[in-house]
Amino acid sequence: MKNPCQQAKAPILAVEGLAVDYRLRGSSLPTIRDVSFEIQAGEAVALVGESGSGKTTTAMAIAGLLPPNAAVSGGEVRYRGDRLPIDDDAAMRPHRWSEISVVFQGAMNALNPVHRIIKQIAEPCQLQLGMSRDEAIARARELLELVGISAERGRAYPHELSGGMRQRVMIAMALACSPSIVIGDEPTTALDVITQAQILKLLTALRSQLNLALILITHDLSVVAECCDRVMIMYAGRLVEDGSVADIFANPKHPYTKLLIESIPNPEHGKRMVRPIPGDPPTLQHRPSGCAFRSRCPSAMPVCATEVPNLKRWEQGRVACYLHPPMKHEEKALANA
Ligand SMILES: Nc1ncnc2c1ncn2[C@@H]1O[C@H](COP(=O)(O)OP(=O)(O)O)[C@@H](O)[C@H]1O
Ligand SMILES: [Mg+2]
Repeated sequence: MKNPCQQAKAPILAVEGLAVDYRLRGSSLPTIRDVSFEIQAGEAVALVGESGSGKTTTAMAIAGLLPPNAAVSGGEVRYRGDRLPIDDDAAMRPHRWSEISVVFQGAMNALNPVHRIIKQIAEPCQLQLGMSRDEAIARARELLELVGISAERGRAYPHELSGGMRQRVMIAMALACSPSIVIGDEPTTALDVITQAQILKLLTALRSQLNLALILITHDLSVVAECCDRVMIMYAGRLVEDGSVADIFANPKHPYTKLLIESIPNPEHGKRMVRPIPGDPPTLQHRPSGCAFRSRCPSAMPVCATEVPNLKRWEQGRVACYLHPPMKHEEKALANA
């Protein structure tokens, strides 16, 4: 139960009932369904799920950056209480980068190979903040130093930098217009383990220095513990669990979350291999009835095939599973009927 002080605090970002469809060969495929969550200023939340679960689509929808064959088919996103025009690219421009920014995965594809990096960081400052060229270059030098690159290196072209340095440049670009929310879409996936750790450390430091709210998208739960306060677990386009990092790791409730946690290598227990979760997630074309996880779920009951379980508040977090809250004896008999 929230105390009155927490209840009064308005979230910086509120996503309510978000739904996204992709159009593919003439048909409309439901991809994201009923995604609802709130984030407070300065909070770091991880969005975790297997590849294809809809993490990038959710991030793109929030930033108003969906590809042309995708459409928001329901729900809304509010920034400091005001509804964002996420389905209107032009109307989103004043909000994108100055309120919500995205650090994409794969920095090499996102940077322009023929321009010096200083120019690429300065550009959004000119366009978005109306700075003069000299002001924008000064701001870009400041941003480079902020992400741990000497301002002199700004003359380099992207190919002259290492993968880690390029990802730092992407972070500098995301911070150029002083956003309050940064979405990192697998920002370290393409990097080696040591560089990964450095980039996560940088994001964590910037987060507290700039009081940023961070949505860190990853398919790797082991990177979450050090840099996030909360974890949201996504499966087949829906949130299935949401809780504090401590709760999710110590007491995962959804059977999918349990399997994800068990699959993390744990050297202390002599278990170094990531254990894959048996079975495959459903495709967009073939979403089953009821709970999308049921064919892989060790605890599936007949009721799981009937209706999608809603994401309900339970104990300190939220979970979408018929096992929570635990059923009474007679309810259990019905569920198994
Ligand atoms: N541009 C697209 N057109 C059609 N389907 C897409 C497109 N992008 C993603 N998808 C599909 O949407 C689902 C969610 O993808 P995505 O959001 O990229 O997941 P994640 O980031 O969790 O890996 C997947 O089934 C994927 O194949
Ligand atoms: Mg993705």
